[in-house]
Amino acid sequence: MGSEAKTVCVTGASGFIGSWLIMRLLERDYTVRATVRDPDNIKKVKHLLELPKAKTNLTLWKADLSVEGSFDEAIKGCAGVFHVATPMDFESSDPENEVIKPTINGVLDIMKACAKAGTVRRIVFTSSAGTVDVEEHKKTFYDESCWSDLDFVQSKKMTGWMYFVSKTLAEKAAWKFAEENNIDFITIIPTLVVGPFIMPSMPPSLITALSLLTGNESHYGIIKQGNYVHLDDLCIAHIFLFELPKAEGRYICSSHDASIYDIAKLLRENYPEYNVPAKFKDIDENLMRVVFSSKKLLDSGFEFRYTLEDMFVGAVETCRAKELLPSVDNKAVEKLPTEGVVPLSEELSVPI
Ligand SMILES: NC(=O)c1ccc[n+]([C@@H]2O[C@H](COP(=O)([O-])OP(=O)(O)OC[C@H]3O[C@@H](n4cnc5c(N)ncnc54)[C@H](OP(=O)(O)O)[C@@H]3O)[C@@H](O)[C@H]2O)c1
Repeated sequence: MGSEAKTVCVTGASGFIGSWLIMRLLERDYTVRATVRDPDNIKKVKHLLELPKAKTNLTLWKADLSVEGSFDEAIKGCAGVFHVATPMDFESSDPENEVIKPTINGVLDIMKACAKAGTVRRIVFTSSAGTVDVEEHKKTFYDESCWSDLDFVQSKKMTGWMYFVSKTLAEKAAWKFAEENNIDFITIIPTLVVGPFIMPSMPPSLITALSLLTGNESHYGIIKQGNYVHLDDLCIAHIFLFELPKAEGRYICSSHDASIYDIAKLLRENYPEYNVPAKFKDIDENLMRVVFSSKKLLDSGFEFRYTLEDMFVGAVETCRAKELLPSVDNKAVEKLPTEGVVPLSEELSVPI
C-alpha cells in the first residue's frame, strides 16, 4: 500500500475505543487523522500525542458531529474512515438534539464528506449491540439480521433509550445512504467492550463491566446475561475488516457470553479483597444464555485472541494504575466515577 492508501481518519479519537484503535493503526504504519471536538484540551489528547509514531504519523483535527461539514477537511485525501465517535450523554435533558440528531446527522455528514473526497475506499462504522437486541422478549440467539424494536424502546423509554434510538436510526440511515450513493460501508457491532486502555478517564463501558467491584447495582441488569469482547480484539477486527477486500454488511464482534455469576466468580478469584457477592437476589443462577454470534466475522478468517479473564484483569489493572479504581483499603471505592453511566432499568439486560 502506498502512503496515501494508508492515510485514514478516526473519529472519537480520544475515547476508549478510538484511542486504542489509533495505537494499533500507528503500529501498522498507517497515517492517522484523529478527530476530537477540542484538540487544545491537552488532558483529553495527551495519550494520543504520546503514542509511538504519533510525531510522524498522527495529526489532530477539530470536528463535531453537530457541526455540518466539520469533518470535510480531515477526510479529504483519506483512503478510509473509522467512524467511532458517538454522543454518550444518557442524562441529556434534550436527547433529541444532543444525542439522536447528532448521531444520525453526523454519520450522514461523514458519508457526504467521503463522497466529496473521492479518495475514501471504505467507511467502517462502530455500531452497537443496542441496535440488535433491545426488545420486549429477549431471544437466546442474535445475529446480524436482528434489529432492536424502536417502538418498544420509545414506549418504554428505559434509561439510555436515546442511545439505542440514535445508534439504530443512524446505522439504518447510513445503510440507505451507502446503497443510494454506492459507498463501500461496513458496520461492526461490539457487545460490552472490556480490557486495558489508554484514555485517561474511566471508560463508560467499564463503569458497567466493573460494577461488581464498585457495588453499582444499577448496572447488574446489564451484566446479568452479558456478552463481551476484548478492546484489542475489537480494534484489530476494525483493521481486519477495513483491509479485507470482500468485507460487506454488518459484523457482530463478540467473543464471550457470561452470566453475572460467571463474572462474579472470575472477579472473586482474581480480586478477593473486593468482597464480590456470590449470590444475587432475584437473579436466577441458571439463567438462559444469550448468544451474540460472531460466526460471520470468524468465517471471514478473524480470530479472537483474548479470554474473559484477560478482559477483566486488563481493565482492573489499568484502572488501578490510573487510580480510577482505588484499592478497597483506602476506602475510596465509594468515590468511584458514575458519569457516563448506563444505569439501565434492572428488568432489562441491554448491552451498549
Ligand atoms: N465501549 C463499549 O462497550 C461499546 C459497545 C458497543 C458499541 N460501542 C460504540 O463504540 C463507539 C466508541 O465508544 P467508546 O466506548 O470508545 O466511548 P467513549 O470513550 O465515550 O468515546 C466516544 C467519543 O465520541 C466523541 N464524541 C462524543 N460526542 C461527539 C460529538 N458530538 N462530535 C464528535 N465527537 C463526539 C468523544 O470525543 P471528544 O469528547 O474528545 O470529542 C468521545 O471520545 C461508540 O460509537 C459506541 O456506540 C461501544
